[in-house]
Amino acid sequence: MQLLKLGQFGLLLPLLAAGADPAVHPLTGRPIAGVMGAGGAHWLERSERESEEQPQLAVRLLQLQPGMRVADVGAGSGYYTELLSRAVGASGAVLATDIQPAMLRLIDKRVKDKALTNVQTILASDSDPRLPANSLDLILLVDVYHEFSQPQAMLRRLRAALKPSGRLVLLEFRKEDPQVPIRPEHKMSVADVRTELEAEGLRFHQVLNDLPWQHILVFLK
Ligand SMILES: C[S@@+](CC[C@H](N)C(=O)[O-])C[C@H]1O[C@@H](n2cnc3c(N)ncnc32)[C@H](O)[C@@H]1O
Repeated sequence: MQLLKLGQFGLLLPLLAAGADPAVHPLTGRPIAGVMGAGGAHWLERSERESEEQPQLAVRLLQLQPGMRVADVGAGSGYYTELLSRAVGASGAVLATDIQPAMLRLIDKRVKDKALTNVQTILASDSDPRLPANSLDLILLVDVYHEFSQPQAMLRRLRAALKPSGRLVLLEFRKEDPQVPIRPEHKMSVADVRTELEAEGLRFHQVLNDLPWQHILVFLK
């Protein structure tokens, strides 16, 4: 794994070692980013994350209610899983998925350490989130969508997992903003997200721009 120093913030973003040519999305031509390995968990858990990305504000903006059933897809070390768990409460449920067993082990440890009672971990595949159909009020993808190696198959299955009133929410670093100190292939523009998601039958609802570095993009089933 390489560590790349970026911009005036001195941000260290763990990357896959350089290798094969990147795949691109067939509709937008967007290069698909490599998957952050479990060694990147320290970056997800960095102490500056709250001030740099404001995850607690992000979750408040989702307006979750106690009892909701939500998924944290590509949950990594479970930073957002814990926030979602507290937001939906003991009567709610959080399904936390990842394709890396090492990430799921970090989540399981967090669940135990923090005594979270409403989190279930799921080992997903590149093309299948392995979520029950028509079951979720909200599916959250934080800095994940740009890593999907099979974005079209994933979107079809994520859409199927939503209740009819459910929301699919992406947090992605703003590609339109050169001041956001993240490598380009790990950012997404609103235009590319809309093109790719609307083609899979998701209805654009809104973009919230309250966070320092990320868009919050909300889609409906
Ligand atoms: C940059 S990390 C973000 C982790 C977490 N969402 C956060 O913000 O703290 C991206 C995560 O997405 C996972 N991932 C990539 N493709 C995935 C897929 N198709 N399904 C589920 N997880 C995936 C990776 O294994 C990695 O843990």
